[in-house]
Amino acid sequence: MIKLELLFRGSLNLVFVFVFVLSIIIIPAKCQDVEVMNILKSVINSPITLEWTDPDVCKWRRIQCDSRKRVTAIQLGSQNLQGFLPQELVKLTNLQRFECQSNALTGSFPYLSKTLQRLVIHDNKFSFIPGDLFTGMSNLQEVRMDDNPFSPWWIPNSLRDCVSLQTFSAQSAGIVGTIPNFFGRDGPFPGLVFLALSNNFLEGVLPASLSGSSIETLLVNGQNSNNKLNGTLAVIQNMASLKQIWANGNSFTGPIPDLSRLDQLSDINLRDNQLTGVVPPSLMNLPRLQVVNLTNNYLQGSPPMFRDGVGVDNNMDGGRNQFCTNILGQPCSSLVNVLLSVIEPLGYPLKFAESWQGNDPCANKWLGIVCSNGNISIINFQSMGITGTISPTFATLSSLTKLLLANNTLIGTIPKQLTTMPLLQELDVSNNHLYGRVPSFRNGVVLKFGGNPDIGKDKPSTYSSYGLEESGSKINVVGVTIIILVGLVILLGVVALLTIKFWKRPRDNSSKSTSHHDAIMVDHKYQLDENVVHVSVVAGGEGGGALSPTGNMVISIQVLRQVTHNFREENIIGKGGFGTVYKGELHDGTQIAVKRMQSGITDTDEKGPNEFTSEIAVLTKVRHKHLVALLGYCLDGSERLLVYEYMPQGALSKHLFNWKEEGMKPLEWKTRLSIALDVARGVEYLHGLTQQIFIHRDLKPSNILLGDDLRAKVSDFGLVRLAPEGKASFQTRLAGTFGYMAPEYAATGRLTTKADVYSFGVILMELVTGRKALDESQPEENIHLVTWFRRMLLNKDSFRTIIDRTIEVDEETYESINTVAELAGHCSAREPYQRPDMSHAVNVLSSLVEVWKPIEQDVDDVYGINFDMTLPEALQRWQAFEGKSTMNLTLSPSSLNTSRDNTHSRTSPNVSSSHS
Ligand SMILES: *[C@@H]1O[C@H](CO)[C@@H](O)[C@H](O)[C@H]1NC(C)=O
Ligand SMILES: *[C@@H]1O[C@H](CO)[C@@H](O)[C@H](O)[C@H]1NC(C)=O
Ligand SMILES: *[C@@H]1O[C@H](CO)[C@@H](O)[C@H](O)[C@H]1NC(C)=O
Ligand SMILES: *[C@@H]1O[C@H](CO)[C@@H](O)[C@H](O)[C@H]1NC(C)=O
Ligand SMILES: *[C@@H]1O[C@H](CO)[C@@H](O)[C@H](O)[C@H]1NC(C)=O
Ligand SMILES: *[C@@H]1O[C@H](CO)[C@@H](O)[C@H](O)[C@H]1NC(C)=O
Repeated sequence: MIKLELLFRGSLNLVFVFVFVLSIIIIPAKCQDVEVMNILKSVINSPITLEWTDPDVCKWRRIQCDSRKRVTAIQLGSQNLQGFLPQELVKLTNLQRFECQSNALTGSFPYLSKTLQRLVIHDNKFSFIPGDLFTGMSNLQEVRMDDNPFSPWWIPNSLRDCVSLQTFSAQSAGIVGTIPNFFGRDGPFPGLVFLALSNNFLEGVLPASLSGSSIETLLVNGQNSNNKLNGTLAVIQNMASLKQIWANGNSFTGPIPDLSRLDQLSDINLRDNQLTGVVPPSLMNLPRLQVVNLTNNYLQGSPPMFRDGVGVDNNMDGGRNQFCTNILGQPCSSLVNVLLSVIEPLGYPLKFAESWQGNDPCANKWLGIVCSNGNISIINFQSMGITGTISPTFATLSSLTKLLLANNTLIGTIPKQLTTMPLLQELDVSNNHLYGRVPSFRNGVVLKFGGNPDIGKDKPSTYSSYGLEESGSKINVVGVTIIILVGLVILLGVVALLTIKFWKRPRDNSSKSTSHHDAIMVDHKYQLDENVVHVSVVAGGEGGGALSPTGNMVISIQVLRQVTHNFREENIIGKGGFGTVYKGELHDGTQIAVKRMQSGITDTDEKGPNEFTSEIAVLTKVRHKHLVALLGYCLDGSERLLVYEYMPQGALSKHLFNWKEEGMKPLEWKTRLSIALDVARGVEYLHGLTQQIFIHRDLKPSNILLGDDLRAKVSDFGLVRLAPEGKASFQTRLAGTFGYMAPEYAATGRLTTKADVYSFGVILMELVTGRKALDESQPEENIHLVTWFRRMLLNKDSFRTIIDRTIEVDEETYESINTVAELAGHCSAREPYQRPDMSHAVNVLSSLVEVWKPIEQDVDDVYGINFDMTLPEALQRWQAFEGKSTMNLTLSPSSLNTSRDNTHSRTSPNVSSSHS
């Protein structure tokens, strides 16, 4: 009794301490918000209608706070506001929405908290936007900053940090330069659907990276730069999600591409460009089409007729288009059709479109066409700078006597159909990039094909065959080389600077490293993921200005460089598909693992960013004793880093498959069993103990990490998917590792928690046999562990032979192994519905573990613990408890204990009282 009372008092004390500490951290932040809001009130000329008078700013109109009285939303649209916004706004560190559209606010737009989700500031008079405003804003979903007189600015690279971006609208916003190539499928914004950049000063082309993007609305019309946007519209044929595209008022050239994949497209505006060629039938046939504007181009062929109800503005009279007639849908003369099909493979050059008017090539003087008696006698396209292939359709011009195509960059071969032209006297294709056999023409035809280096050869030599494309890619190679060289120079500079910095700094804590100069280079020595091909990329640079670690979990790159000795090679502890993992040591000796996501010098990030956000999103939502804990992250320029607790014994795969090479002891059966149970519990938690269902998708021994006590935690949440609410099965892009992937998932992409159960079954088989999921050293029929294991399981005698030889098998062990083997077979059943839930695996395994360890109790077992707090909350609390500011990362061992082990000293009142 007395003991109990003491305990109760103790925990009450704890609660008091906790509440006290909590009030200390909350009150200053709250006060700060009040202060900032009062500054805001005084500078924006807040009108009486806002009624900003209450001492409690949370009661002010158009302000929202969270339960802790921190300001989360400021919504001041259309309030006749004037003045400028104070720089202090950045101190509202819980701000999620900032809206001030349709006012007359002026001056420089201030920095805002990295927690921001919505930024709506259109229709104001802001004159400046800081280029690094977006740095670290990984929650930002919506940006609307149209119609502001910003001084010229480029779309900043820091926007790449906004990995949650769905809407980016910056029309009439003073943007100069080119459209960056990170708005595409492989870019950092998987969810981007709305991109509006109209009426700026953009130039250059629509980047090829837009191909395959999920963008639904793309507005790039009306650029005011001298050159406007130019190049072709070819990329939009691969933007199958498009519903609306406005590209009008630019300098786009070439034909309208095939739009048959854009079955959602309803509004297309291409007017006022220099588009040429025939309007493709795929445009007329678009099922959802409602509005189409094509006026003022150089479109050719028959004037397109759209179905009833489609609004069309291609007014024939004023418009500059070069349709062959004025009557909608009326076909052109056959001669015109032939000539149009002849220039199609040449990309419908503008100079033809400008000259070829009407429906009779001989009535007007058409460029390159010479007629005699109403029939075309000569085609002369010499020295016109045209590129493309020679159309066989030339052959249908039976009256042709001369076909002159010299001095261009034509590619491909001479079509043999040309030999059938009855009146042909001369064919001149000299000085092009043609290859292949010259077909045999009638006697008397003058052939000129000199100056084609590959003529007569079967294949084009790499250089001449691809003509311009080849020289284009050469330029690219040169360009890339230059970029790499410049990058290296910058890197060297940075390294030199760092070296000097380190040199000058008094060496406080026995900085053993003398080799900072080789620190940034990375090589692939350790290959943790056996099935993932990994290319390491050198990345570096200090990024744009030091990123101050404001968010709770944000850790500055400087700290991470310091603790990993500038990402020194010796600190590498592993490589995954998406990055390199370094070991780091804090001042107090605490060890951490820093995962540096793969990122390139070039802008073509691959999966990296998605995995990064996915992993952060998952790890901040789920916490469990058997899931590796995320301690923080860092986004700086192109750098993306995740900081985890360090797992000293490394991956299970090492202990299972490489123990000899690593000089380790093989795992005992008891240990294997307890590892299996740990994993099962971690995965069970992912699947169902949280409010949401998470699916790991990549369970395998290299993603299971061990602590010094050989207890296991599941790691690598880069591929985790959140099941849509209320859906037990859903479809995703395939990801995972062969050998562990459930057959139905591999075959159809349909994903359920049972896919993880399957992988878990494979892991159990590996624990029993010590063999890898795919073992290439085995005979063909035994390579696939699951197949082999199931076969061997059928027979008692054969089963004994597959047990890992390193396991000492007595009767009791054998029974236990047998049970696990059965569970393994059950989990890896072919049909998902035949597999058990993870909780079944937990039950089976825990009953076995208890046989071995009847006395051991998991004090801090999952079920007794409050997991309501998100990780950032927990981190904030223990940081506060430790009296540490969030401005630097000084994790002490005790703080790690609280974060990791959920001991009762953890700072939640619920936990404390639950122990009373
Ligand atoms: C396209 O615009 C760029 C930049 O404004 C310019 O350098 C280039 O020459 C233009 N290309 C064409 C074909 O006009
Ligand atoms: C495009 O065409 C539609 C339909 O005729 C018309 O209502 C609209 O004003 C046009 N837009 C532009 C920018 O010309
Ligand atoms: C054009 O050529 C065709 C045969 O190719 C011939 O029948 C026709 O008379 C020619 N037209 C003129 C005006 O010479
Ligand atoms: C082709 O170009 C060469 C060199 O520029 C010139 O000498 C030759 O006359 C040109 N030929 C034709 C047919 O234009
Ligand atoms: C972090 O802050 C503590 C106390 O303010 C200080 O002693 C320590 O040196 C700082 N650590 C780093 C890495 O800046
Ligand atoms: C943290 O845990 C380690 C081992 O688990 C223990 O030795 C140490 O005393 C703990 N530190 C604190 C402050 O609880």
